[in-house]
Amino acid sequence: MFLTKTLGCIAFLAIASAQFNTNYVGGRSGMVHLFEWKWDDIAAECENFLGPQGYAGLQVSPVNENAVKSGRPWWERYQPISYKLTTRSGNEEQFASMVRRCNNAGVRTYVDVIFNHMAADGGTYGTAGSTASPSSKSYPAVPYSSLDFNPTCAITNYNDADQVRNCELVGLRDLNQGNSYVQEKVSDFLNHLIDLGVAGFRVDAAKHMWPADLGVIYGRLKNLNTDHGFASGSRPYIVQEVIDMGGEAISKTEYTGLGAITEFRHSDSIGKIFRGKDKLTYMSNWGTGWGFAASDRSLVFVDNHDNQRGHGAGGADVLTYKVPKHTRWASAFMLAHPFGTPRVMSSFSFTDTDQGPPTTDGQNIASPTFNSDKSCGGGWVCEHRWRQIYNMVAFRNAAGDADLQNWWSNGSNQISFSRGNRAFVAFNNDNYDLNSSLQTGLPAGTYCDVISGEKSGSSCTGKTVTVGSDGRASISISSSADDGVLAIHVNAML
Ligand SMILES: *[C@@H]1O[C@H](CO)[C@@H](O)[C@H](O)[C@H]1NC(C)=O
Ligand SMILES: *[C@@H]1O[C@H](CO)[C@@H](O)[C@H](O)[C@H]1NC(C)=O
Repeated sequence: MFLTKTLGCIAFLAIASAQFNTNYVGGRSGMVHLFEWKWDDIAAECENFLGPQGYAGLQVSPVNENAVKSGRPWWERYQPISYKLTTRSGNEEQFASMVRRCNNAGVRTYVDVIFNHMAADGGTYGTAGSTASPSSKSYPAVPYSSLDFNPTCAITNYNDADQVRNCELVGLRDLNQGNSYVQEKVSDFLNHLIDLGVAGFRVDAAKHMWPADLGVIYGRLKNLNTDHGFASGSRPYIVQEVIDMGGEAISKTEYTGLGAITEFRHSDSIGKIFRGKDKLTYMSNWGTGWGFAASDRSLVFVDNHDNQRGHGAGGADVLTYKVPKHTRWASAFMLAHPFGTPRVMSSFSFTDTDQGPPTTDGQNIASPTFNSDKSCGGGWVCEHRWRQIYNMVAFRNAAGDADLQNWWSNGSNQISFSRGNRAFVAFNNDNYDLNSSLQTGLPAGTYCDVISGEKSGSSCTGKTVTVGSDGRASISISSSADDGVLAIHVNAML
């Protein structure tokens, strides 16, 4: 009994010290998932693009050794062999240098960490050269032995919480996070990344682990490394992959006391709306009114690396780079609206859902190439370099913590709103032109629309908007426009 109370107390302390702050540098916002990028390329991207454009953070693909699979599918990185920091993205030295260079550019790093499981059968050697025997649950490079795993059983019923958390997800050997040795190995791995200067973690398959065990592991994490510019006492930002579309035994609310969660309902809802299956006017209560977790507990996204290829949740309505027009519009809404912590997906193009990133020789990952209009080539999509997306990160930074005001809708698919007196955005997803005098909330002046173009010196390469002394402006968005969005803000005043 006493022991139970003591454990309860430890769990409470862990929760009390968890926090939901992204640790972004002031004045910045917007995270980008640079899926499968190499560390040296990311370091250069922080210095050349993400830092200068105002991005606040980046999520990297898993950093630890994974099983080498035939054909090199992207998902091999979700099959850990050890916690050595060598993958196709680079080695520990390159990763450490990347984190340092990105922090110096004002861009924080969040690592995709996998500790629900280890590699499935067939993954006998890894990207750092370690060997393993998943069929006997032996991973000597950690080391883990069969004692560290739950008994073998398959997850077949998502209405059975015990099964979801204690059995194997698609044959991946299921670690027992209640085991103190496993807790120690995992927290050592995460603390090593904190020493290297990362700002937080995306916890893969969190739904498949017991919240109390996660609380113990998170409670063992160090504060962030002040040598990388973090304030003393800063806790790592934690976003847990919990897919909760309703109707299952496990709920996201079991995890929101420990950290943020990946809000898949946001991806599903925003996809349906911008595909025209739901009306924009209904977005007037965007947020918890749509069943999302609280704003500071919700990592929000239009698509992620799983659901863009039909894995995970969201189904056929998820918007991806393959439907660029409405992906841009939905991304603009996500970045304009104050709700949640937005993450932009940066993809490589694929035709086969197993296909890995572009390579030079079938094995080594190729670097992106860059075009004069800032877009990428070489098989990389780089949604984060689309003008309509990176300019909306700047919009969000200009808006800062200003509240949503001046909501307007035509009762259908034309809406607009301001962020206080700092920024204004309008959308037209109707079959009718939008031609209206709308309240922008902005000071009088002439502004550059950052969707159709951008401010260049004292001129604008896109549409201009004149705001009168009453804050109103005549806003036009054609129903046939490739961009059914118009966005202006105080930093784009001419
Ligand atoms: C709003 O848009 C609809 C088309 O969806 C149009 O029929 C209607 O006239 C518009 N309403 C107003 C008040 O502008
Ligand atoms: C909206 O304004 C544009 C530009 O002035 C004009 O060409 C278009 O016909 C107008 N549409 C409607 C429905 O009034």
